[in-house]
Amino acid sequence: MSEHNSVGNAPGTARPAGASVAPSPWSAPRRVHIHDVAMRDGLQIEPIFVPTEQKIALINALGHTGLSKIEATSFTSPKAIPALRDAEELMMGIERVPGVKYVCLVPNLRGAERAMQCNIDEINLVMSASETHNLANLKMTRDQSFLALSKIIDEAAGQVDVNISISTAFGCPMEGVVAPEEVLRLGDRFAERGAQGITLCDTTGMANPTQVEALCSGLARRWPGLELTLHFHNTRGMGLANVIAGLSAGIDRYDSSLAGLGGCPYAPGATGNICTEDLVHMLDSMNMNTGTDLGLLVSCARQMAKMVGREVPGQVMKAGPWDKRFPPPPDLEQTRERALAR
Ligand code: COA
Ligand code: ZN
Repeated sequence: MSEHNSVGNAPGTARPAGASVAPSPWSAPRRVHIHDVAMRDGLQIEPIFVPTEQKIALINALGHTGLSKIEATSFTSPKAIPALRDAEELMMGIERVPGVKYVCLVPNLRGAERAMQCNIDEINLVMSASETHNLANLKMTRDQSFLALSKIIDEAAGQVDVNISISTAFGCPMEGVVAPEEVLRLGDRFAERGAQGITLCDTTGMANPTQVEALCSGLARRWPGLELTLHFHNTRGMGLANVIAGLSAGIDRYDSSLAGLGGCPYAPGATGNICTEDLVHMLDSMNMNTGTDLGLLVSCARQMAKMVGREVPGQVMKAGPWDKRFPPPPDLEQTRERALAR
């Protein structure tokens, strides 16, 4: 049997002999980078303010889970996003684990100035592909946003990496369909301006796998040298299916959120991101290499659930991993005897 016929030999998830399936594009070992955005996308929509020292403790724990990036907070208006009003104190208080990139979301020049004072590794600039969502979320037209973000790219050059998150790239909850050509054109303009990475965001879980594969298949050729990331919300249960479509299109970086928290307060109907530990569990069991420790992520997810004080969407934290075993019913031997006697 070729090694490519075997699914799931990742550490801790070894499958029994015989659990092999036909070769698939996903069964060969592959490095997939996980960016956790719970501290930003997750907390921005929670009605409570989590005390800064609790946020710092969780980010410090997350730093040791093997994540490639941690989006720690945003430098937005405290009136717009009160839950993240402690961004400076938080960024100054966290431990920086070597090899982990600490990222902050920034919507405008004022936000970039604040972020640059806090020794961050990457600015994640945000604007929408849809005019309506850009106005609702950022109070700017897309042209105004593009101008402001371009200035930030110029100012950040040589000092800090810049990624652009394009919101509503797969659909807008107010406008509906967003033309893929518009998303690509916007990405082209940022690539020309010198951004280091582009993230396509499905802000309210409207994307489907066919659409993801169609939009993403040519991206690595279209934007060579740029780090490409996908950001899915699981609003309609299509989140992990969209990851499979993204992988098949060649994208190997995914935003996800601990315990499945998340959502944009200025996008009607927004709910949680795809859940980090559920994503890692799926990729581990498919024999992909996320570089992360599922057990540590689950314990961070539990810490997060305690912090927000409510039922959270994460599933593996409740069900356990696929290889968890339950004891058989105590009367199994009698059942066997009865069955054999029939
Ligand atoms: N950080 C802190 N304060 C900021 C700021 C920033 N990045 N940008 C603006 N402000 C302050 C201004 O100083 C001003 O303060 P004042 O009222 O005390 O004078 C006030 O906010 C209004 O400034 P203005 O430029 O008119 O902003 P606005 O009200 O048009 O809001 C944004 C624009 C972009 C700042 C705001 O909509 C925002 O932060 N949106 C973020 C939304 C978000 O994070 N969504 C989820 C992620 S996709
Ligand atoms: Zn999001």
